[in-house]
Amino acid sequence: MTKPKHCLSLLDLDASTIQQCLQLAQQIKANPEAYVHSLEGKSIALLFEKPSLRTRVSFEVGIHQLGGHAVYLDANMVGPGQRESVQDIAANLACWTHAIVARVFQHDTLQQLSTAGISVVNALCDIHHPCQTLADLLTLQEVFGEDLSVLKVAYLGDGNNVCQSLMLGAAALNMPLQVVTPKTYGPSKQIMQTLDETFKNHQVTLLNDPAQLGPVDALYTDTWISMGEQDSAEKKQYLQPFQLNQQLLEASGATAVMHCLPAHRGDEITDELMDGEHSVILRQAENRMHAQKALLHYLFNGFV
Ligand code: CP
Ligand code: NVA
Repeated sequence: MTKPKHCLSLLDLDASTIQQCLQLAQQIKANPEAYVHSLEGKSIALLFEKPSLRTRVSFEVGIHQLGGHAVYLDANMVGPGQRESVQDIAANLACWTHAIVARVFQHDTLQQLSTAGISVVNALCDIHHPCQTLADLLTLQEVFGEDLSVLKVAYLGDGNNVCQSLMLGAAALNMPLQVVTPKTYGPSKQIMQTLDETFKNHQVTLLNDPAQLGPVDALYTDTWISMGEQDSAEKKQYLQPFQLNQQLLEASGATAVMHCLPAHRGDEITDELMDGEHSVILRQAENRMHAQKALLHYLFNGFV
């Protein structure tokens, strides 16, 4: 049996694979009819421990468009680690399905799922959100052109899963990215260490003061309180200066405003920026499906 390819994080895809996935996503978006047999005869389990709008729908519709079949599994029903072990669930799913797309609380659950001999795709965990980053990079290419190394992007807010995957994607493609967070809510030391070890000349830098941000092409933010996290007035207060608003937009000169959604209007981003002329937020959401179709095509067929 050939070893299955996984996407537990962007570290599973090297720089060339990420680039090729983005190219393929563009082709699939432009000509979806050419890929209607990509997943013929394939069934894919979608196992979700947390809520979702975009990820669930874009995977279900995308798999259907590729000729495959998606089976949605609410983790409350399946009970990973409660009703039965994660590894037993994976072994059973491997009897009937060809891949597992999973949204989980702990990254370790994905690792356990990946022991059953079928592909596993991370649909968000505590550390990463690789599918989001693929869609974000695709969106940036559409807006600014293929070569992301000439761009300047800034992520402001909580140094969470979305931020950390964006850091990995930026480093892989040599895209300059400034990550601007309060010290207490920055990305993990582990991610920065991985970046430094894996991408020797990456251009990801950390800042703690939005006033230090120079001119950028794109501004990105995400919710201040992630799914499963306790709501915290204190954290929101710390993050207030990192809000995407008109003043920051003008000071930075950015012409693209990004958010992975769901957004908390008035917290991490104002209505004005969400709905303004520079918002590419819905395009990011649309591109989730094209990017994920490309990823699934690659996992099963390579780039043929
Ligand atoms: N951006 C994103 O992953 O959205 P959902 O949580 O709705 O899937
Ligand atoms: N950081 C957010 C992303 C949601 C898509 C969360 O984990 O809830």
